[in-house]
Amino acid sequence: MKVLMVCLGNICRSPLAEGILREKANGKGMDLTVDSAGTAAYHSGERPDRRSQEVAKKHGIDISGQRARQFERSDFEVFDRIFVMDPSNYDNVVSLASNNKEAKKVELILNKLYPGKDLPVPDPYYGGRDGFENVFRMLDASCEKIIEEIKTNGLEGS
Ligand code: 4NP
Repeated sequence: MKVLMVCLGNICRSPLAEGILREKANGKGMDLTVDSAGTAAYHSGERPDRRSQEVAKKHGIDISGQRARQFERSDFEVFDRIFVMDPSNYDNVVSLASNNKEAKKVELILNKLYPGKDLPVPDPYYGGRDGFENVFRMLDASCEKIIEEIKTNGLEGS
């Protein structure tokens, strides 16, 4: 099973989502590939935002090795599930899908917690440190749900 996390810049939200999901999967001995990307290329090649690195570290997760990259069409072939952080990411990613099967791989991550509500993980880039802690909590709870779902549906390793 391969999961991709997507936000706008791939330096704040999706690197946290990647780190959290990988940590949870490793902790349970699950065979999960996790990556992240941004719909924009502004920060390609950069490490996660310092504030994302700090909040992750505070919760025992090291995301300093990640480097930002832009989402590309071929990601639809590589990944089984694509979780986006907000409705704008959703529109941008789905607009690159070649068919319905690819479009159906894309899902708003907070719909794992609040089904059908289409809520955004707020972009913390221009805010303070509280915003990053808030985002961490939302993503932690969402990733817990994703892990439960994958275990239940038995898609591990596929
Ligand atoms: P992210 O946050 O999408 O969570 O990585 C952002 C990072 C950078 C910018 C916007 C959002 N930016 O405009 O540079």
